[in-house]
Amino acid sequence: MTISNLPTLDTPALLIDLDVVARNLERMQEKANNYGVALRPHIKTHKIPELAQLQMRLGARGITAAKVSEAEVMAAAGIKNIFVANQIVTKEKLHRLAALSKETSISIGLDSVAAAAKLSEVFAASGLSIEYLIEINSGLNRCGVLPGKEAVELFQAVDTLPSLRFKGIFTHAGQVYGADSLSEVKEISRHESIIMAETAQAFAEVGTSPDIVSVGSTPTMKVWQGHEAVNEIRPGNYIFHDAIQVSLGAATLEECALSIVATVISRPEKERAVLDGGSKAFGLDRGAHGKEMVTGFGIVLAKQAILARLSEEHGIMTLDPKVDLDIGDKVQIIPNHACAVVNLFDRAYGIRNGEVVEEFKIAARGKSQ
Ligand SMILES: Cc1ncc(COP(=O)(O)O)c(C=O)c1O
Repeated sequence: MTISNLPTLDTPALLIDLDVVARNLERMQEKANNYGVALRPHIKTHKIPELAQLQMRLGARGITAAKVSEAEVMAAAGIKNIFVANQIVTKEKLHRLAALSKETSISIGLDSVAAAAKLSEVFAASGLSIEYLIEINSGLNRCGVLPGKEAVELFQAVDTLPSLRFKGIFTHAGQVYGADSLSEVKEISRHESIIMAETAQAFAEVGTSPDIVSVGSTPTMKVWQGHEAVNEIRPGNYIFHDAIQVSLGAATLEECALSIVATVISRPEKERAVLDGGSKAFGLDRGAHGKEMVTGFGIVLAKQAILARLSEEHGIMTLDPKVDLDIGDKVQIIPNHACAVVNLFDRAYGIRNGEVVEEFKIAARGKSQ
């Protein structure tokens, strides 16, 4: 797509290439189908109900959300099967979760007896029950119990609590975003599945088998070769990809569907041009785990330029002096981290062949409770 084909859009504006989205979604669904596993995409990447509905139409089993408020938005849009892949412990959220579960099939993550007790108390008091999946730490060292024995012990400690129904185990090997090479990405992907297979085996040894064994991140799923013990995958970013995925080798630039169009507002020097968007449009991500994975704050398309610095509302590009960019010209940029950027905009514009064909409200943006 070239910027000149775009109609006049005020900027900075968020664009979604719908053909690229369709290809990204179809490929991942095909992968899930080929390996005989369910796809449960994480919607924190796009936060747009219409895109969640598209994922469901293409064959997703349900969706994953990180927050109760995201789940509420998606349930209101008719999504009937939602896994909140997180630890929910505040009373307010647990009551909202209970209300939501009356109309929608909701499951939730658990990694402690304390969280289980709170969950059980609220659901039992409402005369409801909820399915839970035990979160396994496969190396990210965020939430999650250790694989194997520790996971089984948590199950044994909480399963007698009223209103809780054990559904399975899940993990997210997010440490993959610190990988140095594609072969390391592949190794982490293999490890993510093996850890879960071993944990499922530990459950089998005490006479319980998890219905769902769920893994996933975009990089680990892009290189995934399947595993007989795993029956669900949960990538999120794959719908859009971004500069960080490209730097990891998990996506090509052609597979990047999300971009920001911005306008040059100043060209004080031949080597410097300033855009009308800064950290509040492009985000400050440079990689995960404190590691810089990329050059600048996004990939500038079609111009020899680096988005080198950001203030809140200014993006400062360094350029070859010969680059022709005048005040008022538009520039298109693939963001470093698509999931974070979506959360900065109210609306996104769906484009095909450089034409805006659809406008989306980012209905779950800012839904961080
Ligand atoms: C629990 C969980 N599952 C799935 C995902 C999806 O991973 P990705 O964004 O790499 O596709 C995430 C991402 O943060 C996550 O935290």
